[in-house]
Amino acid sequence: MESKQLGPGFAAEILGVDLSAAMSDGDFDAIKQIWLENKVAVFRDQNLSDNDLLRFTERFGPLFVHVRSQFNDKTRPGIMLISNIKENGRDLGELGNGDLAWHSDQSYSAEPVFATLMYAIEIPTEGGGTWFCDTARAYENLPEATKARIDGLKQNFSIEVTVETQHVALTEEQRQLKPPVTHPLVRTHPELGRKSLYLSPAHSTGLADLPADEGAALLAELEDWAGRPEFTYLHEWRVGDVVMWDNTSTMHRRDAFSADERRLLKRTGFELPPERAVPF
Ligand SMILES: [Fe+2]
Repeated sequence: MESKQLGPGFAAEILGVDLSAAMSDGDFDAIKQIWLENKVAVFRDQNLSDNDLLRFTERFGPLFVHVRSQFNDKTRPGIMLISNIKENGRDLGELGNGDLAWHSDQSYSAEPVFATLMYAIEIPTEGGGTWFCDTARAYENLPEATKARIDGLKQNFSIEVTVETQHVALTEEQRQLKPPVTHPLVRTHPELGRKSLYLSPAHSTGLADLPADEGAALLAELEDWAGRPEFTYLHEWRVGDVVMWDNTSTMHRRDAFSADERRLLKRTGFELPPERAVPF
């Protein structure tokens, strides 16, 4: 399996793979290994049916279904539409055209999704890129004193924080499915044992067990550190791209794009096995 590094020490393009075709266990394992090591994997020039996308996603683990179900595909709820397009005056998908702040997907969940995949159908000519941050390398490169200072700290998350960046309000039922949660600030990779900063400013309500101002200052310091160029990669989308990322070891954000342009992606995800689904 051939791959090409895209970012500084992480994010790799996997070459010569057609995700719509039958794939041997050996090829699948090689892809999974490259993805785990690189945290973000990119496949270019794909032409996938919904079933192709779901089949590839489910091979890694149980299919994730988004709690904000308004834009889940009606017949295949494992697919969510991400789009700013309006059809007959109604939104075709979620998330509009604005900037989206750094986050790790579903960090507001007790058992956050392991990986997210996005498949690009329509892409604007300018803007709308996705920035990825390697939070494992950001952790590894911290001064030892900082590692000691943050060891054992916990962070609070809430789905409510995201409300202003979404354009469909949560229903009462959805809110009840996602009560506030607390996760370790430094988490261990469920398969590799590697440690990373578990940062997700778009869902965070602050550090637990610290005075609010001290916690906010520490989080801001860690988020600034992680956002440095040596830990980040900008993915500039092309039609046909499939990008999959490891939410345990990365966070991501999106640049805004013009409301006059069209952007449409199909999103899927897969879960961790139940015994390793809670961040530790
Ligand atoms: Fe996201």
